[in-house]
Amino acid sequence: MDPQLQTISEKALEELERIQDRPGLDAWRQLYLGRKGVLAEQLRRVGQLAPAARPAYGREVHALQDRLESAWEAREVLLRRKELAAQARQECVDITLPGRQRRLGAYHPITQVLREMIETFYALGFQVWDGPEVELDRYNFELLNMPAHHPARAMHDTFYLDTPELRAGPSGAPAPGALLLRTHTSPNQIRIMPQVGLPLRVVVPGRVYRYEQVDPSHNWMFYQVEGFVVDRGITLADLKGTITAVLRRVFGRQVRLRFRCDYFPYVEPGVDTAVGCVLCQGAGCRLCGGTGWLEVMPAGMIHPQVLRNCGIDPDRYSGFAFGAGPDRIAAIRWQIEDIRHLYQNDLRFLQQFRAALQRPRAKEGAA
Ligand code: PHE
Repeated sequence: MDPQLQTISEKALEELERIQDRPGLDAWRQLYLGRKGVLAEQLRRVGQLAPAARPAYGREVHALQDRLESAWEAREVLLRRKELAAQARQECVDITLPGRQRRLGAYHPITQVLREMIETFYALGFQVWDGPEVELDRYNFELLNMPAHHPARAMHDTFYLDTPELRAGPSGAPAPGALLLRTHTSPNQIRIMPQVGLPLRVVVPGRVYRYEQVDPSHNWMFYQVEGFVVDRGITLADLKGTITAVLRRVFGRQVRLRFRCDYFPYVEPGVDTAVGCVLCQGAGCRLCGGTGWLEVMPAGMIHPQVLRNCGIDPDRYSGFAFGAGPDRIAAIRWQIEDIRHLYQNDLRFLQQFRAALQRPRAKEGAA
């Protein structure tokens, strides 16, 4: 081989050996095999040689070109394999490692009770509505037969909003336009009845607020599920049947229920619904205050004046209403001795209710 080509060949192959990456490969190719590269220059030199020497020299340059070309390809394959190996090392997953455990949450006990109640109400043909937590005195009290000086208001220790209407009523009492945090869900009777065509079956779950001394059985915020039914010929028997179905779903079929008279200005007659104490089975204990009964669902036949206030003729239609306390129901069902646990978001407490999702009572044939 021509000594000059020999030198080029050795130098080129030696350089190629040392190349470790793609830019290096490209540069090398450009330098030796490019259009203006070293070998192209050698080809251009052919013209300056003696005519007899030209063909041999040309062949040698072409042969060298082929050799460098295949050397480049071999190097390229090698580098690509190295790259792949490095990538595989970096992206590899050790499938023998143990998986990450996902911590499953659980429904809050009040949510569980709410869901079960609402499921039952759906099955009984009720629709679910929502209402505002900041309410007008008019709906919370006035149109429910509780004007400003009605003694029944004393049972509702009310958070009022500081607006001019707060003192605009007779002798400085709250006017119907005063704003407050609703003390019960009953104002939704007045709000919703006129919006739904008759006959109607509606439940309204939600939070209510009372300015109360907090203790194991009272909190300044708690839940209620208001329900009301208006149709022709609704009687106390419908009230009893509906409430019985719902409480059996929540407490199980074996639950003992007691219905007796109570007073609320917006029902007549009023009913207090109690379940037999789950702790002492009626013998009397701390949970039931010695009475053997726990009140869970005040109710009654809707007062004719309330129906009138909603534009419904009480001579043609009648209805019943109730206000269930899901927090109290949850506390009774799981024998939680202090309802404040329900609002403190302590996971040690809340995680105990995960098992309850499995519905232990289902096998007893609860509705
Ligand atoms: N609103 C009443 C309360 O909060 C409960 C109730 C609702 C009573 C509907 C009768 C009818 O105590």
